[in-house]
Amino acid sequence: MIIHTIKELRELVKNWKKEGLTVGLVPTMGALHNGHLSLIKKSVEKCDKTVVSVFVNPIQFCPGEDLEKYPRTLEADEKLCNDAGVSVVFAPSPKEMYGEGHILSNDFLTYVVPPFFYTDKLCGKSRVGHFDGVCTVVNKLFNIVQPDFAFFGEKDRQQLIIIKKMVKDLNIPVEIIPCPIVREESGLALSSRNNYLSENGKKEALVLNRILFNIKTCYNKGIKDVKLLTETAYSFLNENHTLEYLEFRDKNNLEEKKVADNNTIVFIAVRVENVRLIDNIEL
Ligand code: PAF
Repeated sequence: MIIHTIKELRELVKNWKKEGLTVGLVPTMGALHNGHLSLIKKSVEKCDKTVVSVFVNPIQFCPGEDLEKYPRTLEADEKLCNDAGVSVVFAPSPKEMYGEGHILSNDFLTYVVPPFFYTDKLCGKSRVGHFDGVCTVVNKLFNIVQPDFAFFGEKDRQQLIIIKKMVKDLNIPVEIIPCPIVREESGLALSSRNNYLSENGKKEALVLNRILFNIKTCYNKGIKDVKLLTETAYSFLNENHTLEYLEFRDKNNLEEKKVADNNTIVFIAVRVENVRLIDNIEL
């Protein structure tokens, strides 16, 4: 089933809650792939009802980003959800979520702004305001769906950490369930943005997971010094890669690490064919 309005979805959820059913939410921007499917499967397993939201959220795109060309495949997404046992796909329009003239009237929208310490680094450094847009829409989705559980992929690890922080700080009554990164056999982390890459680009994109897995091997062999671990990355890079960042940070609060330990996550972003790809690994 697909629902486009907040009112209809609220009615449905109200009835589920009356029956004492648990509700899982999988927030997405559509173009669903096996990574999303793993989140959906977890929710369907754990919860009586699963809502998958499909909404390309305009306020999390920065000027010059791919809002217009972001893949929109609602029919295929709906089929995948139906086959996976999803109770309802919630696919609102930007107008439904933000009202008339939503894009031009951002100054008139109440935002949820996560702490600067969490957003001034990694993806937030080049995507200023991105996480304000994410937190705002996720908060709205939580208010609309009122889920007991919400499922987020570890692929967008900074996003996951920021959402957990928002939920804790704002006492939002939802449990966040992190879901592991899903990779192609080649090791490439699944992402809707992989669709922008040529066949050769996909091969070049393997550099992200090669660097990360090599760092993990070095760490397991006893190298803990972040400077040394960082140096191991450079031999993997060539003229087809633009390294945006390679950083070692604490898995709970994103503090920088100089010496790696078991609470460390290595974050990487590389541009390949001008597509910005991200990945991460826990040490
Ligand atoms: O991870 C995403 O796809 C989006 O950032 C999210 C969480 C659905 C919010 O628009």
